[in-house]
Amino acid sequence: ADPDPLQDFCVGILNSTSTSLNGFPCKPASQVTSDDFFFDGLSKEGNTDNVFGFNVTPGNVLSFPGLNTLGLSMNRVDYAPGGMNPPHSHPRATESGVVIKGKLFVGFVTTDNMFYSKVLTAGQMFVVPRGLVHFQMNVGKGKALTFTAFNSHLPGTVVVPTTLFASKPPIPNDVLTKTFQVETSVIDGIKAKFGA
Ligand code: GLV
Ligand code: MN
Repeated sequence: ADPDPLQDFCVGILNSTSTSLNGFPCKPASQVTSDDFFFDGLSKEGNTDNVFGFNVTPGNVLSFPGLNTLGLSMNRVDYAPGGMNPPHSHPRATESGVVIKGKLFVGFVTTDNMFYSKVLTAGQMFVVPRGLVHFQMNVGKGKALTFTAFNSHLPGTVVVPTTLFASKPPIPNDVLTKTFQVETSVIDGIKAKFGA
């Protein structure tokens, strides 16, 4: 989904203050080394000690600047038993993933409101078309692990529950009570769960 690159590589300078463009400015080729093209950030299990019981470790342009302008990135996603990656979407990329360990219920909903889903185990792949809301839930007994890939160096993530119930500043309750056809107390209860 990202534009085609204009050079072999453009190792990103993340902290440039002088230049802004679609992506990051390129490190001068004379300063580029092998280290710019390798990243070991996905080697470690993420901390799943949170309300959802999951952790995303991103391997995108922000953590791995060698990906700058190259149009792809990957995540490591760890799931505690019963953990889930809650409903979310990526505005700038289609996602593909492979289950490495465990048993995962994977699904997405289309713009026609069709829900497509399947339970996957190690070695099985899934795809989520760009921008569609999707989730994964660990339905096995132990931990689960997936690696996901995106056709953007920075796919972006819109997390449905935090977008609606934990934005800063918060979305007013009269918007949310009308949206979900419930009383204010229900909305306050949900907001409280997210520390709002
Ligand atoms: C999984 O859905 C991910 O965004 O890595
Ligand atoms: Mn995703």
